Amino acid sequence: MPVDGQQYRRSPPDSVPGKQLRDNYVMNAALEPRAHGASGAWMPPPASLALKFCGMDFASPIVLLSGCVGFGEEYTRVAGFSNRDVGAICLKGTTGKARLGNKPHRVYETANGMLNAIGLQNPGVDHVVRHILPTLDFSETRFIANASGSTIEEYIEVVARFDDSPIDAIEINISCPNVKEGGVQFGNSPEMSARVVAACRKVTKKPLITKLSPNQTDIQENARRVIEAGTDGLAVINTVMGMAIDSRTGTPVLGNRQGGLSGPAIKPIALLKVAQVSEVARAHRIPIIGQGGITTATDAIEFLIAGATAVGVGTALFYDPLVCPKINRGIAEFLNQRGHASVAALGS
Ligand SMILES: Cc1cc2nc3c(=O)[nH]c(=O)nc-3n(C[C@H](O)[C@H](O)[C@H](O)COP(=O)(O)O)c2cc1C
Repeated sequence: MPVDGQQYRRSPPDSVPGKQLRDNYVMNAALEPRAHGASGAWMPPPASLALKFCGMDFASPIVLLSGCVGFGEEYTRVAGFSNRDVGAICLKGTTGKARLGNKPHRVYETANGMLNAIGLQNPGVDHVVRHILPTLDFSETRFIANASGSTIEEYIEVVARFDDSPIDAIEINISCPNVKEGGVQFGNSPEMSARVVAACRKVTKKPLITKLSPNQTDIQENARRVIEAGTDGLAVINTVMGMAIDSRTGTPVLGNRQGGLSGPAIKPIALLKVAQVSEVARAHRIPIIGQGGITTATDAIEFLIAGATAVGVGTALFYDPLVCPKINRGIAEFLNQRGHASVAALGS
């Protein structure tokens, strides 16, 4: 039975209530610009929000982020939610074989954010290509796979399998902090990052977007190396490593001991990383999906000004699945107020 946005206030399966995030959102939402038609009805996002990203047509600068929307179907059962409101959707991190992920707890609410250590739970690339991609409606939005692995060979296997599929682009996740092997071990080393990207480049002509880790010394050097290795776009940033301790038991809260921090708490870090990476990427005309703590149109605009071409929304969806049309309307109104014809004008 369809539910409306208010009724859908339950938390994701292994989540915690999310009160802090909701309070933050409600406060920000009250500040959001609102656009009404003459009849008072909500207006659809205007054409000025459309943009090109790595050759793909995005209807909006918003990209729904990997791990926050399942395999593209998670929110489609929520009344009022539409995949058409976003430029693209990144699917859950996918590995060569199915993975069960980490032991619980796997998510934990923190001040203005959340820690997660899901551990790349997914059914494996073959299942995704054969059984999930055929169920997605590619007329609604662009779908981006998120390729993960423990070895370079596994990245090659996953990317090659997605290459032979209708997926629009492939994001290389070399920045997952929640798995023991691979992931951030690759992403924190510019040399290893470049090797993964070069290997993936050889097995696909689809757009490759490399997701950079904030947990490294020199993100600009990493960006430079993966650009040289053939990436077409960048995603900045993945989650920031963190941990939580239960003072009553004296043990870590997360089953994996450490996790990735996301949500508004990481926004200032993410903005800085986007600004730093854009200094490198701009010269090569490599576009960036800026992400990390975006919950409002104002947040999104700040990332576009920092140098992002598109903006990712992840954790915000957990407490407001209908946040995207609000962000679209806020960006559109900001563009209209400034006399900008297109969202691309914000970054220049
Ligand atoms: C529960 C959860 C699962 C995630 N899983 C993945 C994943 O599988 N692959 C990936 O590249 N990023 C993953 N991420 C990181 C997000 O895609 C995003 O980069 C990060 O959360 C920052 O954006 P946000 O603050 O808007 O959530 C995950 C994040 C969360 C909260």
